[in-house]
Amino acid sequence: MKIEQNYSLLSHNTFGLPVKTRWFMEYDTEEELQKILRDEYFQECLSLHIGSGSNLLFLNDYDGIILHSNIKGITITNENEREVSLRIGAAEQWDDVVAFAVQQGYGGIENLSYIPGEAGAAAVQNIGAYGMEIAEVVRSVETYNQITFEKRIFTCDECEYSYRNSYFKNEHNDPHIVTYLNLLLSKEPEYRLDYGNLRQELAGETEINLKKIREAVIRIRQQKLPEPRELGNAGSFFTNPMVENEHYERLKVTYPDIPSYPLPDGRRKIPAGWLIEQCGFKGKTHGAVGVYEKQALVLVNLGGATGDEIALVAESIRTGVAELFGIELIPEVKYIV
Ligand code: EPU
Repeated sequence: MKIEQNYSLLSHNTFGLPVKTRWFMEYDTEEELQKILRDEYFQECLSLHIGSGSNLLFLNDYDGIILHSNIKGITITNENEREVSLRIGAAEQWDDVVAFAVQQGYGGIENLSYIPGEAGAAAVQNIGAYGMEIAEVVRSVETYNQITFEKRIFTCDECEYSYRNSYFKNEHNDPHIVTYLNLLLSKEPEYRLDYGNLRQELAGETEINLKKIREAVIRIRQQKLPEPRELGNAGSFFTNPMVENEHYERLKVTYPDIPSYPLPDGRRKIPAGWLIEQCGFKGKTHGAVGVYEKQALVLVNLGGATGDEIALVAESIRTGVAELFGIELIPEVKYIV
């Protein structure tokens, strides 16, 4: 177990904010986690469990305990000719999991290539990209209840997955810490190529396989999204809003080219990046904060920005989009005060 005081979180948040935490605790096993959870001092302190900080915005130094898992490992727990079950430690880098699966010929997560973050957080956030969501392959999620300290294995249904959401994100539920996730992948994968320009990106290929899909997704992401190591960012800052069909039809009169995806419940999902671009924010900078020039949904730290400055720019975008379109943007990024 690692315990540090006044610890810099610079390498634990992809916005690259030089914030500190009063305590940083990293556990290597479920037993160590249980020990921390049962500790009286821990129970009295403010605490936050993080992954690799690719979805966090720290507004201040953190006056409490930041917890981090170091539980790693990718194990095959079951397999037959058609399917394979993998048990994955929450601290594995998500993209290492995808790389492993693709290399072994296991399908179901290849479109989720190159997403920053750790496997545990991926299961909490229900990461999605290019027409795939992790929820489709989650078999179960192993957790510890932060209040009762009990281990509970959530089935996929119990995780209550929806777009970028899960049971674990709902503040009304007991907080649970994810230690392992169990995925069910296919040895006879059906490729999912119909999102955006994925098929187009693969057009020159004579044979399509998992590796080619992974490489194409990585190329598309690298063209559109900034590398956090080079330009601090947390990917999509907002979720894509879902609006009633009448609202969409009204907007279509003024904006005939408005992009949208129909939802099973009759509503429409509208790309937040388009709304933000229409408001004129794309490529603009405010001090050390920028709206990324290739994808308006991404806010970037141009160097030396504070969490408050990023939050202010996000607020002016929310106001602009609300005024022009009557749509409320909800941050996907979690603000930490
Ligand atoms: N668009 C614009 N201007 C922009 C950006 C987007 O007009 O500056 C419009 C275009 O019409 C484009 C459409 O928005 O066709 C969709 O853009 P894109 O394919 O880049 O996807 P997105 O909806 O902006 C979502 C996810 C991404 C994921 C991509 C690909 C959310 C909040 N974001 O973005 O996830 O990579 O789809 O599947 O759902 C992330 O969560 O950090 C993330 C990057």
